[in-house]
Amino acid sequence: MSVQKATNIHWHAGNITREERWAALKARGCTMWFTGLSASGKSTIASALEQHLVSRGVHCYRLDGDNIRFGLNKNLGFSAEDRAENIRRIGEVAKLFADSGCVALTSFISPYRKDRDLCRELHEKDKAGASGGGGMPFLEVFVDTPIEVCELRDPKGLYKKARAGELKGFTGIDDPYEAPLKPELVLKPERMSVEESVVACLDLLAARGVITR
Ligand code: ADX
Repeated sequence: MSVQKATNIHWHAGNITREERWAALKARGCTMWFTGLSASGKSTIASALEQHLVSRGVHCYRLDGDNIRFGLNKNLGFSAEDRAENIRRIGEVAKLFADSGCVALTSFISPYRKDRDLCRELHEKDKAGASGGGGMPFLEVFVDTPIEVCELRDPKGLYKKARAGELKGFTGIDDPYEAPLKPELVLKPERMSVEESVVACLDLLAARGVITR
């Protein structure tokens, strides 16, 4: 849990509310949070969804675990503490994207329930947030691919390394993954095509009033 270090700081609300921004931009922000094991298909589905939304003119942006670790989070590893900080930062960044009117798509293993719940809380309780108004939708999508399937796919050869003892603390092998208890959506990539998963995500976004169908 990170603590507030800085003192003598004061919130500056700006001149427009979130509602005014979204109305003027004809946009509605939210965060769609993909969670699941490595190689479960999070990034593939998020990328296809991003492509679809952008082609429709919906302002949308994808934040991806591996990619973010090359930049913003390059100083973090895979201990429980570092994963918590990784997810906390992404939760804050996604919230800013959502506040700006963007559909933020995050694909991170995010193995710990409490870290994901913190991100949900950041969004849903953001009443006094960057520009005032109510909270924002946080849509948790569980990409529920069994570990045996992820391990068979193993696109980066990491499961193989973990089984051989060459990679310690790998999620699902010798590090935990806590499945969501009440996700907004569960996808089963071993039984659903990428297109079917995208449609399920679009339906959810439409049901929450983020996009029109
Ligand atoms: S998270 O646990 O902190 O949410 P994140 O999604 O950012 O993880 O990064 C996961 C990716 O890092 C995996 O897809 C994999 O490519 C790589 N990786 C490297 N080491 C590990 C590890 N020990 N556990 C899980 N993923 C790892």
